[in-house]
Amino acid sequence: MQDRRPASAEPAVPIDPWDAPELTGWRRLPMHAVVRPDAPRVPLDGRWRFQLLPTPRTPLADRWAETDVPGCWTVQDFEDIHGVRDLPHYTNVTMPFPDLPPSPPAGRNPTGVYEREADVPAGWAGRRVVLHVGAAESVLIAHVNGTAVGVGKDSHLASEFDVTHAVRPGERNTVRLTVVKWSDATFLEDQDQWWHGGITRSVHLYATDALHLADVGITAVPGGTLDVAVRVRSGEGVLPAGWSVSGLLCTPDGILRLPADEAFARANVASERVSDFLGEARIRAAVPGVRPWTAETPHLYDLTVRLHRADGSVADESRHRVGFRSVEISGADLLVNGVRVYFRGVNRHDFHPLTGRVVGAEEMRADLCLLKRHGFNAVRTAHYPPDPALLSLADELGLYVVDEAGIETHDHAHELADDPRYLGAFTDRVARMVLRDRNHPSVVVWSLGNESDYGANHDAAAGWLRRTDPTRPVQYEGAVKDAWEEAQSASDIICPMYASIEEITSGPHSKPLILCEYSHAMGNSNGSLAEYWRAIESTPGLQGGFVWEFRDHGILQRLTGEGAGRPAGPDAPADAYADGVTAPGYRWAYGGDFGDTPHDGAFCADGLVLPDRTPKPAMAEHREIAAPLRLELTPDRREARITNRQHFAGLAWLSARWHIGDSGTAPARLPDLAPGESAVVPLPTSLLPHGDSHLTLRVTTARDLLWAPRGTLVCAPQVVLAEDHRDLLTRAGAVLAADGAGAVELDDAGLLRHPLLTAPPVLTLWRAPTDNDEWGGIAARWRAWGLHALERTLVSVGREGASVVVRSAYATDGAGTVGHEQVLTPLPNGGLLVDETAVLPDALTDLPRVGTVFETVAGLDTLEWFGRGPGETYPDRCAGATVGVHRAAVDALFTPYLRPQESGGRHDVRRFTLTGAAAGPGIAVHLDVPRQVSVTRYRAAELTAAAHHDELVPRATCVVNLDAAHRGVGTASCGPDTLPAYRVGPGTHRWSWTLQPI
Ligand code: GAL
Ligand code: MG
Repeated sequence: MQDRRPASAEPAVPIDPWDAPELTGWRRLPMHAVVRPDAPRVPLDGRWRFQLLPTPRTPLADRWAETDVPGCWTVQDFEDIHGVRDLPHYTNVTMPFPDLPPSPPAGRNPTGVYEREADVPAGWAGRRVVLHVGAAESVLIAHVNGTAVGVGKDSHLASEFDVTHAVRPGERNTVRLTVVKWSDATFLEDQDQWWHGGITRSVHLYATDALHLADVGITAVPGGTLDVAVRVRSGEGVLPAGWSVSGLLCTPDGILRLPADEAFARANVASERVSDFLGEARIRAAVPGVRPWTAETPHLYDLTVRLHRADGSVADESRHRVGFRSVEISGADLLVNGVRVYFRGVNRHDFHPLTGRVVGAEEMRADLCLLKRHGFNAVRTAHYPPDPALLSLADELGLYVVDEAGIETHDHAHELADDPRYLGAFTDRVARMVLRDRNHPSVVVWSLGNESDYGANHDAAAGWLRRTDPTRPVQYEGAVKDAWEEAQSASDIICPMYASIEEITSGPHSKPLILCEYSHAMGNSNGSLAEYWRAIESTPGLQGGFVWEFRDHGILQRLTGEGAGRPAGPDAPADAYADGVTAPGYRWAYGGDFGDTPHDGAFCADGLVLPDRTPKPAMAEHREIAAPLRLELTPDRREARITNRQHFAGLAWLSARWHIGDSGTAPARLPDLAPGESAVVPLPTSLLPHGDSHLTLRVTTARDLLWAPRGTLVCAPQVVLAEDHRDLLTRAGAVLAADGAGAVELDDAGLLRHPLLTAPPVLTLWRAPTDNDEWGGIAARWRAWGLHALERTLVSVGREGASVVVRSAYATDGAGTVGHEQVLTPLPNGGLLVDETAVLPDALTDLPRVGTVFETVAGLDTLEWFGRGPGETYPDRCAGATVGVHRAAVDALFTPYLRPQESGGRHDVRRFTLTGAAAGPGIAVHLDVPRQVSVTRYRAAELTAAAHHDELVPRATCVVNLDAAHRGVGTASCGPDTLPAYRVGPGTHRWSWTLQPI
């Protein structure tokens, strides 16, 4: 700040704003919800002069670099004049530096100084001028023309400063924004994400009349009552006489003019609450016939609030989109408009793989549209208030929002929850969020923050909040963490994280139970999501939860050429990645990849979508679980029953078609059902004698919606009309070859030689550990048993009729020997029947898989299978796939999880073919019963060894796994392991399959 020490004897106070927890801001305007799209504005986004200093005390150099605002300097390319080299740094709980609260490191504290000129119109003379900085992390110090105009903290909320006294209208003005990265506030921003620095949201100047709206608070309920509380101030201090307010509400029947509430004004006078510098007024109206707002029916009404001068002219105006809705808690139910809704939620961070924490409005729209298309109806803004545009989008598209204050003290949680030096910061962060966001109908719950233990600072913030906004519940996980039922005053909701199904169903509970985080989406994960929802939908008091989390935080990193090792940044070429995969020369970086230390590795890659928003298979799983309708067969199996599972909407927005087998399809008519209603519909008899017995109702959007074009898949429920009980050989269309045909050829080790296989079928008990297997400690046991390196010994080769019987033994590390028998029987035309038995010692209590692995010749690049598809499925994550005939390129079967791991599986597979170019060879495989199958370009050992997807070199051959048993994926990287039913234990496993050349 400009040093303007008085010449008098009055001592100056030397405050470093970055090392003063009691100082949450200085000369910052109170947060408000006034929205002025038409106010005169000088946009300040774009190029700024820039210097990155190693500390806030370092003198500026006399030359400047340049950079863009908004932007995170940690991912931008600019001339690093002072050699600071500040790159992204990822830690989960651990602070990135060892210093103790409240002081940030004195030695190294990257500080960005941004400066530019602003042409302030001459016409702004006499007006009130405000500098708006959307967000800066973590301390912002603002100057205009050399005058210090204010200080702000909280990296995720805007700071506004009245700069009327400092600007010179009609001239070029110099704006300087100094952003200090580490501060006392950093200890409150210890969220599990990358650390960045910079100005992360838009900057502009705007002008208002001296007489202006200081705040507008709107309450609108389904009955049609609209209450608008207005605060009015004057830049000149004393309010001029005779001001008034009014409102205009657009309804389908026309524009309603809403006058000020005179009774309120009279009561203010009568009780002597009238002030000469703070004006208060109300608008109160009963709007007839409103269509309420819900996530399913996001009806909005445009409201304009006006402030008039004494002569009636308009001094200021604020625009809002009002949703009439209510939220209340009644017993253990959270009700929206009186209805107990489910929260099909996700946790969403502000993240972009090129720009870090800078996320544009179109990016946010894409996030939310993708969520809506996959059945999500709720977002928790983990773990700070989002860009306000996100809330407007949620209002418009229809999503319930848990708006969370930017407080996470994780590494020093207990120390700071009761630290009086931080009391102001806790309440300030909660209060400013509420004051900014309270007019959004989408916001239905406030959250006091995340992982900050529980203390007096929370109760203080909750107290402020409850008084200011009695219309919404408050939640805070830290308050219910250890004892869900204990008395506390910071959470109206039992909102635990990662509680197991057993725990959440152990009620009854006194409050609604909505998991603030569950189903940790790290890597190949989200096992048992269907079981969670079965429990939620059948247990009173359970109302859903928020999956952790939306997106993998992989930052695109250059590996070659100029700037190798650095983030690719905002200017990365458009073809640097596609479909979740980085182009050669790039990779998705996670913790440690920028030389950051300490770090938490790939723990930031735990989203339902890859860094470029390519959905991982768990998205399809969620879509089906969230299906707006249910399809069942009637008990006599002659008809189907359709139930509307929504809370507010009918089915008119959907259209449907029946599908059976390869190509059978017929139109379906969806009945007109109110929420909760069901009706019986006829089966498509024209399709029924169609060989296959899996009947699917493909449900799509019937018209273009804001979040999905017409024809977008919404769900595809399936019913099974009959099971195929034919035996394996019949289904394979094979008969045993004549005795002694002798077509089975073995090598010296007793391994099959086959012209279409480059690696023979052998037993495998290993899968490349998933993140859940690793973080859950499960893979460590497998490694200890040596499952990744079983040693095979041939025991015997014998003949039984036409069959060859190969017995082998696989030695584990201290867990005994696995006996394996392979009976190979020739089929005509080079085909084979393989019957296998594995006997596992009791010590192998928990295995990744028991099955066969082989490799085919090169050139087979298309898989057609009859089983679950089209997406990747595992035993405990297969609700999002239908049984049928599916076809895909082998390369497309694999999910490019950031850290390579087991991937690409398909569940319940009965048969498949692998083929190449039209004339080339191929193979057909039939399985005895539906089994887990994968076909990839990678061996499990290669996946296990690689740290990043780009390190993998695809084979020309196919690596084929047929599993007698395959462990579920669970969520053990953070939360419960797969359920016992999906674990693979010791004992005897048998499986059979046929291999036929085609
Ligand atoms: C939770 C936390 C999240 C994230 C997650 C693990 O404990 O609230 O921010 O760290 O675990 O990925
Ligand atoms: Mg944390």
